[in-house]
Amino acid sequence: MSAIKRITLPDVRFRASVAVPGDKSLSHRSYIFAGLATGASEVAGAGPGADVASTRSVLGACGVAIDGDQVESPGIAGWAPSAGDLDCGNSGTTLRLLAGALAARPFRSTLTGDRSLCRRPMQRLVDPLGALGADVATSDAGTPPISVGGTAAGLHGGDAVIPIASAQVRSAFALASVQAVGPSTIDSPPGFRDHTERWLDTMGLGEWVSRTAFRIHPGAVAPHRYEVPGDPSSAAYLWAVAAARPGAWVTTPNVSLNPGRIGFLQILEDFGAVVDAEVTGSLLGDPVGSVTVTGRSLFNVDVRGPVVAAALDELPLVGVLGALGEGITTVAGAAELRTKESDRITATVDMIRSLGGGAEETEDGFVVVGTGFLEPGRVESRDDHRIAMSAAVAASRVKGSVEIEDPHVAAVSWPTFYDDLEALCSSR
Ligand code: S3P
Repeated sequence: MSAIKRITLPDVRFRASVAVPGDKSLSHRSYIFAGLATGASEVAGAGPGADVASTRSVLGACGVAIDGDQVESPGIAGWAPSAGDLDCGNSGTTLRLLAGALAARPFRSTLTGDRSLCRRPMQRLVDPLGALGADVATSDAGTPPISVGGTAAGLHGGDAVIPIASAQVRSAFALASVQAVGPSTIDSPPGFRDHTERWLDTMGLGEWVSRTAFRIHPGAVAPHRYEVPGDPSSAAYLWAVAAARPGAWVTTPNVSLNPGRIGFLQILEDFGAVVDAEVTGSLLGDPVGSVTVTGRSLFNVDVRGPVVAAALDELPLVGVLGALGEGITTVAGAAELRTKESDRITATVDMIRSLGGGAEETEDGFVVVGTGFLEPGRVESRDDHRIAMSAAVAASRVKGSVEIEDPHVAAVSWPTFYDDLEALCSSR
């Protein structure tokens, strides 16, 4: 029997400022970069979710000591082979980024994860890491477990062009390339979050050679104090609830404003919401700032092109807002959604239908008929935090409640999400 969360959101025109949890992508990268460096680093404000805990635990198994904010590492050359498989839990970022870092080590490592992660495609790492001379093996289905490393001669520089705008694959390549002999270049279609590239650029370990191609220079990462900003992919749930309530607003201070993370803000404006984003600082060349979203009547949107990659994790929310708006909302060119924690095309369409809305799958996206409201119903989470959390947002315009099966999966990115959402929707 799976647990059920029944969520009812009072129809209050809230006006609030809410601090969201530390950014997941930047928390993974902070711990991994701290682990590459020799000596003491600090990671302040890391995300509280299970995915980030998976990165900490795999690094721990490699010999990196992490105690609260403090990280003490022997440096990448001192990482030790682990006694067993490295368990990445539900976290694709943990598995792919650390597969890259470990691909350059002289010992073999095997990375695996939970039921959802063991269904996700890893074949996409084989060619790019292979261009550096790495030996990468996946299961016959191209899924985890994945084994990397153990190439006696180490890695050489190489070039790779990947067909998808995947920050995880680009970052895996970069984390192997900093340990290679000679420079390497990675290129892909645009729209990806370029956190890793910006950090390497600031550290003097790489540079852009075109709008999308980045060259990596091998070298040592220095210890650093990382101050992780808030997660725009978490803030997105609050932005969406505000967007769907005319006159309500929410401000989320100090969130990552990396251009590859904020496609959803563009989409919210297209829906008719008022968006005010202001850069207030940066972390190693990566912009951070405050975002305020004010609700208006929602129309519909047509989402395609590079904004798809820059809003990838928020597309289930686009489906929900499409149902709560007026007219036909379309998402196209988003086949990558089928490779996430669940098949997010099917999961998004099923979620909307379970709540009485009209939605259809296409091969690479979905079409939603906006009626301005949804109905009470029960939504399956499918081992996917972003589906569970999107269903909670749908409750915003339901007369009654939404029931979420396996609600605990939200803890992957935001353990106190339901309480925080309910508190926002009850505030005045
Ligand atoms: C991430 C990149 C994205 C995103 C994931 C986190 C990252 O995946 O969907 O949640 O931190 O690099 P892809 O790079 O596979 O698109």
